[in-house]
Amino acid sequence: MVNVLLIGSGAREHAIAEAIMRSSKDPKLFSYMKAKNPGIAKLSEDFQLGSYDNLEEMKNFAKANNVEFAIIGPEDPLNKGAADALEEENILSVGPKKSLARLETSKSFTRLLLQKYDIPGNPKFKVFESVDGIKEFLDELEGIVIKPDGLTGGKGVRVQGDHFQTKEEALAYCEEVLKEHPSVVVEDKLDGEEFSLQCLTDGKTVMVTPPVQDHKRAYVGDKGPNTGGMGSYSDADHLLPFLIKKDVDTAIEITKKVAEAIYKETGVYYKGVMYGGFIVTKEGVKLIEYNARFGDPEAMNVLPILKTDFVDICKAVIDGTLDKINPEFENKATVCKYAVPEGYPVNPVRDKKVEIGDVGEAKLYYAAVDEKDDGLYMSTSRAIGVVGISEDISDAEQIAENAIKEIKGPVFHREDIGTKELLGKRVKHMGEIRE
Ligand SMILES: Nc1ncnc2c1ncn2[C@@H]1O[C@H](COP(=O)(O)OP(=O)(O)O)[C@@H](O)[C@H]1O
Ligand SMILES: [Mg+2]
Repeated sequence: MVNVLLIGSGAREHAIAEAIMRSSKDPKLFSYMKAKNPGIAKLSEDFQLGSYDNLEEMKNFAKANNVEFAIIGPEDPLNKGAADALEEENILSVGPKKSLARLETSKSFTRLLLQKYDIPGNPKFKVFESVDGIKEFLDELEGIVIKPDGLTGGKGVRVQGDHFQTKEEALAYCEEVLKEHPSVVVEDKLDGEEFSLQCLTDGKTVMVTPPVQDHKRAYVGDKGPNTGGMGSYSDADHLLPFLIKKDVDTAIEITKKVAEAIYKETGVYYKGVMYGGFIVTKEGVKLIEYNARFGDPEAMNVLPILKTDFVDICKAVIDGTLDKINPEFENKATVCKYAVPEGYPVNPVRDKKVEIGDVGEAKLYYAAVDEKDDGLYMSTSRAIGVVGISEDISDAEQIAENAIKEIKGPVFHREDIGTKELLGKRVKHMGEIRE
C-alpha cells in the first residue's frame, strides 16, 4: 500500500490521478484541490479543498493521511514553495523546490543557465533590468520577442507580428513589463514548428515521454487569441509527422545538459518534470522555454499510453534511481481536444451547465467544472478534455471528435486538431524551413 498526495485540480491532474491509480502497488490517493474536480474526487480516498497559498493546510492534510510522497501538478504551488513545505515534514515531491522551479518561473534564469554552461538552444537574447540599452539591442534583432521574467499564466509573452509590429511598441511593452517584473528578456524571433518534450528526472537521469504538439490559438486554423491550449496530439511512432529522430535527440541532449547544469549551479538535484518547449528552425532545434511540470493538455497524451507503473517511476524520481527504469509507452497515436465555454478566453460565459453523453471509447478528463446537486457547471476556463487513442492520428482524431460532440452546452472546440489537413500544413511549413 502507498499513500500519495496529489496537488492540483485540472485535467492534467485528473490524468495524473488515473496513472497513479493504474499502479499495481495498491495506491491510495489524497488530493489537495483548489476546486472540486469530480474525476479526481472519484479516484481519491479523500480530498481537501484549499488554496495553494495555504501551505500549512497542505502539510497538515499530507501528514494526517501518512502520504509517502507528493506529486505537484500545476506551476502555482511549485512557485509558492509546496515542495519545500512538504519536505519540512519529510515528504518528498515529484516537483522541484521553489528555487529550482525557477527553470519555469524565471525565463532569465533558464536563458542565462544555458549560456553559462554552453548548452546549445538559445536564440540571441539579453536580459534587462531597466530600459537602458533595450533600444540598441532591438536594432540587432531580426524579429522581436519580449518575455516578462515571472509567471504570467501564459499571457505575458509578446511576439512581433502577432501582438505588436514596431520597435516603438516593443520598447513601450518592455517599460510596462519592468513596472511589474524585476527584469525582461528580449530575444530573437524564431521561425519553425514547435513541439513539447516532457521528461521526468531525478536530477541525474532524464526519462523521456513521447513528443506532443499543442495548439495555443482559440480558433480553427490557428486563429484568434492565445489560450492555455485547445488540444494536442502525439503519434504512434513517438515522433511527430514533421519531426525527425534527430530533432528529438537534440532536445533530449539539451534537457540532459540542463539537468546537469542545475545541479552544478545549485548543488541540488532537480526532481520532477522538465517539460521543454522546443522549436525546429532552419538552424536546428532551439529552446523556447522550460516548464517545471507536465503540460496541460500534453499530460493527457502521454500518461494514458504509459505502460510502466507510474508509482514506481515517481518513487525512482524521488529516490534518485531513475536509471533503473526503462519506461514503455504504447505505440498508439493520441488526440486530445478541449471543450471550452463559449467566449473563452476573452469573454467566457460563466456558471453554465454542461451535459456529457456517450463518449464511446474516448477518455474523458475534467478540468474547470463544478459538480453541483443538479449537474455539472463550467467555470470560465477550459472545461473538459477528451482523448482518442488509436493506431494512427486520424483514427484517434475521429474518436476524440465523436466524443466531444457529446458534450452538450454553450461550449466550443477546435475541430481541426489532429486532422489530415492541419497536419499537412505543419509538414509543409517544416519542409519549407528545412530546405
Ligand atoms: N523566441 C521566440 N521566437 C518565436 N516565438 C516565440 C519565441 N519565444 C516564445 N515564442 C512564442 O510564444 C509562445 C509563448 O512563449 P513561452 O516562452 O512558451 O511562454 P509562456 O508559455 O510562459 O507564455 C511560444 O509557445 C511561442 O509560440
Ligand atoms: Mg509556453
